[in-house]
Amino acid sequence: MPIFFDEKANSFKLDTPNSSYIIKIMPLGYVSHLYYGGRISDSDVDYLYQCIERPYSTNPDGIKTRDFSLEHLPQEYPCNGTGDFRTSAITIRTEKGNTSTDLRYKSYKIYAGKPKLEGLPAVYTEDEGQADTLELILEDKVSGAEVTLIYTAFRSLDVMTRSVKVTNRSSAPIAIERIMSTSVDFNESEYDFIHLYGTWANERMVSRTKLHHGKQGFESKRGTSSHQHNPFFALAMPNTDENMGEVYGFNMVYSGNHFSEVEVDGFKTTRAIMGINPTDFEWFLERGETFTAPEVVMVYSNKGLGEMSRTYHKLYQNHLCRGEWRYKRRPILINNWEATYFDFDDDKLIHIAKGAAELGIEMLVMDDGWFGRRNDDYTSLGDWFVNEEKLKGGLSSLVERVNAVGIKFGIWVEPEMISPDSDLYRAHPEWCLQVEGRAFTTGRSQLVLDMTRKDVRDYLFKVLSDIFSCTNIEYVKWDMNRHLTEVGSLLIPANRQKEIFHRYVLGVYDILERITLAFPHILFEGCSGGGGRFDPGMLYYSPQIWTSDDTDAMERVKIQWGTSMCYPVSSMGAHVSACPNHQTMRDTSFETRGAIAMSGTFGYELDVNKLSEKEKEMVKKQVHKFKEYYDVITYGDHYRLLDPFKNSLRAAWGFISQDKNEILITFVQIKGEASGPLYKIRFAGADPNKKYQDTATGRIYRGDTLINAGIMIPYILGDGVTYMCHLKTV
Ligand code: DGJ
Repeated sequence: MPIFFDEKANSFKLDTPNSSYIIKIMPLGYVSHLYYGGRISDSDVDYLYQCIERPYSTNPDGIKTRDFSLEHLPQEYPCNGTGDFRTSAITIRTEKGNTSTDLRYKSYKIYAGKPKLEGLPAVYTEDEGQADTLELILEDKVSGAEVTLIYTAFRSLDVMTRSVKVTNRSSAPIAIERIMSTSVDFNESEYDFIHLYGTWANERMVSRTKLHHGKQGFESKRGTSSHQHNPFFALAMPNTDENMGEVYGFNMVYSGNHFSEVEVDGFKTTRAIMGINPTDFEWFLERGETFTAPEVVMVYSNKGLGEMSRTYHKLYQNHLCRGEWRYKRRPILINNWEATYFDFDDDKLIHIAKGAAELGIEMLVMDDGWFGRRNDDYTSLGDWFVNEEKLKGGLSSLVERVNAVGIKFGIWVEPEMISPDSDLYRAHPEWCLQVEGRAFTTGRSQLVLDMTRKDVRDYLFKVLSDIFSCTNIEYVKWDMNRHLTEVGSLLIPANRQKEIFHRYVLGVYDILERITLAFPHILFEGCSGGGGRFDPGMLYYSPQIWTSDDTDAMERVKIQWGTSMCYPVSSMGAHVSACPNHQTMRDTSFETRGAIAMSGTFGYELDVNKLSEKEKEMVKKQVHKFKEYYDVITYGDHYRLLDPFKNSLRAAWGFISQDKNEILITFVQIKGEASGPLYKIRFAGADPNKKYQDTATGRIYRGDTLINAGIMIPYILGDGVTYMCHLKTV
């Protein structure tokens, strides 16, 4: 059994194929963390923690010996205010106002499979043989809080998920002030801290720094997971690179305010925590009520960052994305946003659709501007009624005409938002987030609907269902274009206003669940001002997410590289857009724009009718190529080969099919060099025992040659030139 209880050692051992995790129940019921790392056979590893008397430390329970202190004990779920002064996982406030929290072991359960988390997205199993779960039940006798730590270990992936439930078993109400989903103590500190920071149009840049004494971390207080800090971090040994070395990944299945902190103490131990951001958070529990914290997915790899990422990719493709579109071939789409912005009508769209269909593109997506009086971004969010001045004959007529030219139709919506200048706002000013007496802060001139309200969600469900069912809509882009301010709700009592940030996210999940269940045939693409909500929570509802509003191919190299740290290429929305690029004014060759967008869901974001005949031919070729490469890109293993964060001149990455019979390598010369080196790319993913043939040159390589000697990149001059090498076994 991958999870078992060693009665003699009083310890629990959880195994994945290459990792082990050991928890020990200590005297007095404290739950200690003894080990997380490469797989080991022993379950009794008591020697890893030694009680040492440390002057000036606290001793719990009035015990006489001075060598047992929570301050130095590696713990599974450290509490606040009872002697562990490091960053804590949980703070419960009692009715009397006290926040010291003391959790002790009560009981456990081990079972096959993985439980659902109520109201929350989570990684899932499809049969009980895929994973095993340990529930550790702890209790705080004073507050009456019963805390269940839920651990699931996957049998075929080095994945452990963690989440937490708190039930109030006392007769008085309690308040949760802080609740982390995971906390892991390491007895060393020689790690690098890797995380993904950014801005709008520059999401998921990779930062790698040495851990230092004290605290380091990041958070979102914006109501979404944000462009600024993705809910992901990794702790890697200093020598860990793409192909070798140990790394621990942490990624939170959550789309709201998150918090990650790593603390190194004076004794060089490290504590890593991740959970809902405690700032502006609190949750009341009446007697018998339960709160469930979102899940954190922990991945262990001793084969470098590449293996960590591939584990996340496999997990998310097979155990997080759901529904028909999980494995169905996604259409190559054309989106009119950068082609027209708000300036379109039905004829213009049909013109684009016709041109696109002739080149082999499979779907037209009508972006923002089709409803209310929306001719710019100052108005009409909430008025989800077709603007018939723009779309004469209405939506059905447009969709019929699009379908008649031989392609599918998709639509853009931004359901969580409301413009102050909208009929919806005039009818229901009470429906947006607000604080009585305080002026609104707008973002893109819009306000945010109060998604905590059931009446708002019911209205949205009805109005969206009417649109999605009135005609043949096969794709929906679900956008969200501002962060949350004045986070108050008119329906929630004063003492629960700090629940709103989390309740907002639960409300978004509720409507997404209802809509995606009601329209299983629709392909949903998440979006938030580009990639501002690119997180595992959203992937549960939409198997692809618009990666960034920056469509510049050269900038996308870094954005898509960073995104691939934990998200599969099959989830990354990527399009060829017009040049000069609208965000950077850069010109990049059409081939290169295509090559970069192909490492994503692939589509276009321009008016094909404005392309030259030569470019149109290239579109046909790209469409053909993408279809040929679709399986290896979408379902293949992804390898990052040449890091643009280390080398601003060039980058490379590749894919290999699961059967190891097909390889695709993309090399980009980001900046040309007058007299650059000849470049060699080694591909660690190849099967050493197979022979691969370059489909363009006919040259044959043995797999071990690709691994060790690599391929030579033809001498490339010029900015933004790409080389793609496609190999198949012979
Ligand atoms: C932000 C998105 O990221 C863009 O692609 C586009 O849909 C605009 N919103 C429309 O307002």
